[in-house]
Amino acid sequence: MIKANENFLQLKDSYLFSDINKRVSQYVQQNPQADIIKLGIGDVTRPIPRAIIEAIKKSAKEMENAHTFRGYGPEQGYDFLKEKIIENEYKGLDIKSDEIFISDGAKCDTGNIVEIFAKDIKVGITDPVYPVYLDTNVMYGRTGKYDENTNRYSNIIYINATEKNNFTPVPDELEEVPDLIYICSPNNPTGVAMKKDVLKSWVDFAKENKSIILFDSAYEAFIEEEDIPHSIYEIEGAKEVAIEFKSYSKTAGFTGLRCAYTVVPKELIIEKEVYGNVACLSNFEALEKHPNSVISVNKLWNRRTTTKFNGVSYIIQRAAEAIYTEEGKRDIKENIEYYKENAKIILQGLKKVGITCYGGINSPYIWLKTPEGIGSWEYFDILLKKYNIVGTPGVGFGTNGEGYFRLTAFGDRTKTIEAMERMSS
Ligand code: MLT
Repeated sequence: MIKANENFLQLKDSYLFSDINKRVSQYVQQNPQADIIKLGIGDVTRPIPRAIIEAIKKSAKEMENAHTFRGYGPEQGYDFLKEKIIENEYKGLDIKSDEIFISDGAKCDTGNIVEIFAKDIKVGITDPVYPVYLDTNVMYGRTGKYDENTNRYSNIIYINATEKNNFTPVPDELEEVPDLIYICSPNNPTGVAMKKDVLKSWVDFAKENKSIILFDSAYEAFIEEEDIPHSIYEIEGAKEVAIEFKSYSKTAGFTGLRCAYTVVPKELIIEKEVYGNVACLSNFEALEKHPNSVISVNKLWNRRTTTKFNGVSYIIQRAAEAIYTEEGKRDIKENIEYYKENAKIILQGLKKVGITCYGGINSPYIWLKTPEGIGSWEYFDILLKKYNIVGTPGVGFGTNGEGYFRLTAFGDRTKTIEAMERMSS
């Protein structure tokens, strides 16, 4: 019989959100009358703006005509969308079209990127963390054994994000230097966003140590405070050390349509072999003078993309393009404001009943401290059974998440208000 990939056997039994779904389904089966309010997974509820729907209809119509029909598109995405991205998201930041890769989701990209780096590199992830970063490294075989007592894997550098550092770790707190550093800001799950000076300290650290930052800014549209970068490339020198992941899921309601993009700057390089002399050169000089020793990450990601991906459908890329029309921008902003208002309602509701919470300002996520320090899963059960509310147990995002719980502002307004009323009853 064929043997399973042993890396997969190191994974915990199921993916966090599948686990939650299973528990909720079981509860509903036993309590069919329960009126469940879902504030668990960060899935949007506002409908897709009209400009986007019109673009979908129009491009679908093109498919029925032999002259306008499209088959395979460029694996990296159509220029019409990339141009809009450069114009709207990276104005003045010198991002080029061939540094942008359109994809079907930031989840897939952050998961797939792990395979272009050597297996024995050191990976640094925050604890708590979006589980995809960790699980995909486990699947790739980069981690050691899972320890049930600590809820942690060996061979991973866990970067603590706790109340003590306001859920914003800085490089000075590291005991070991990671080669690959995952940063998600505004953060999933804590909802806390990184200020510019802190992000700069990570970029400087990465430059000094030749590390690479994987910057996930899927929740960037929720930023409202000054001094919080919308893109890591706002930090000088970041193009030499960072890959950025952006998604239309939470911004434009594309969780079902699927479209995102990843920016891999050309000057980002990695070693083919240990070669000391490149350290004193700029990345472009190193590429030019030592092509046998270093390689551009962009080139590798492009190679991977062209081999394993056939691109996002033309219709969906046209839909994404419509995000940048005046009407699209206006409606999307309105949806984001709607969710932000939900976040305020949740923050106020929780504070009213004396619950300490974080996030919810530059983010759709509210990270709350469970009352009386009860366990995250125990709190999950209380909310489900007593109030029929579904949230996400903090411990599902890592050891430091124990005693915390995440609620999302992506729900329907009336239901969000009702959830808070139930919790204060
Ligand atoms: C979450 O709830 O953490 C997100 O919706 C998951 C995701 O974006 O994949």
